[in-house]
Amino acid sequence: MTSAPWVNELPSVAGEQLAGKRVLVRVDFNVPMSDGQITDDTRIAAAIPTIEHLVRQDATVVLMSHLGRPKGEPSAELSLRPIADRLSELLERPVGFVDDCVGDAVEAAVLDAQPGDVLLLENTRFHAEDTANDPDFARQLARLGDVFVNDAFGTVHRANASTAGVAKYIPAVTGFLLEAELQQLGQLLDDPSRPFVTLVGGLKVSDKIGVLESLVTLCDEILVGGAMAFTFIKAKGGDVGGSYVEDGEGVELARRIIELADEEGCTLLLPVDAVVAEALQEGLDTDVVAADRIPADRMGLDIGPRTRMLYEAHIRDAHTIFWNGPMGVFEIPDFAEGTQAIAEAIADNPGFTVIGGGDSVAAAHQFNVADKIGHISTGGGASLALLEGHPLPGIEAILEAPQ
Ligand code: 3PG
Repeated sequence: MTSAPWVNELPSVAGEQLAGKRVLVRVDFNVPMSDGQITDDTRIAAAIPTIEHLVRQDATVVLMSHLGRPKGEPSAELSLRPIADRLSELLERPVGFVDDCVGDAVEAAVLDAQPGDVLLLENTRFHAEDTANDPDFARQLARLGDVFVNDAFGTVHRANASTAGVAKYIPAVTGFLLEAELQQLGQLLDDPSRPFVTLVGGLKVSDKIGVLESLVTLCDEILVGGAMAFTFIKAKGGDVGGSYVEDGEGVELARRIIELADEEGCTLLLPVDAVVAEALQEGLDTDVVAADRIPADRMGLDIGPRTRMLYEAHIRDAHTIFWNGPMGVFEIPDFAEGTQAIAEAIADNPGFTVIGGGDSVAAAHQFNVADKIGHISTGGGASLALLEGHPLPGIEAILEAPQ
């Protein structure tokens, strides 16, 4: 397994003299929104240390980000304008909003800005060229800065023009958030204290196959929950009733992971019991049954009490824990106990604990344990990509940038 050698090799914003320079910063302000309101500003708050550092250095700060997946077309509900307002509140200083991210008017706005000013550009994905990593578009972005700072850990696994392509044309360094994430998550790759236990949940095995293949080589134990557990149980010949199962490819992949875990000496634990109901709905009668003997007219929606106790015991003995994916449908109180028990057990563990992935992070907040977790990553897909051990395009781009 590869470790994370690049963590200490990357040039940092801390080492740059930036007074009077225009600094183009890729942040990940892809925050959850509902009716135009930001419902969780963690990612905005996480970018503040880099922005404040640049302001203190008297740089002109030009921020860019994507929001959602607008498919190359402008859309009012995916505008970054509300984010500029929230950022301004958090920074306690004005933030200028520029209603595009490339073009003459944008270049003029950036040229007009003074040292210490902070500008936020409109959603980079309003242009299809961003996700296509189009070189012309990347060159246009690069015209907006003397230096590129990548502080978008959540997007570091994307080879986009705004995350990677832009670094072909101007010097590039890491921001403080990106550095902190690489250092913290890097500890999971780099000789973690053992036992190293991972809890993994979520819907599909196929979504996490890459990281599962890597985790069986990294971890001592993998505790499986969430809907994907039923695909594993089916692969072992159990009856999962009407539970969600990723038939076909998913069952095959689960079988492969079971074999790989065996070869690597990694213990793969599956739920022994499950909370079941007739449908994924609040207020229906629930029951607890053996996880591999679920009646045909019931579906598993949470891990059961025996599984909770089993997983809690393994969590207690762990020295390093990584958690990605809830144990059940925790948004509905009837199916939240498994995820709550796991979140609380992880919070009580005195070792090194890491949560990555939007749903598990939301669960940690919902069950009021977030402040007791060693590291809560701002990247879901990015943290998994990092643990897969493959090169990350945003990091490679910094290493290859002109200095
Ligand atoms: C995320 O939320 O995981 C990142 O912002 C990346 O977003 P994407 O999956 O749309 O590229």
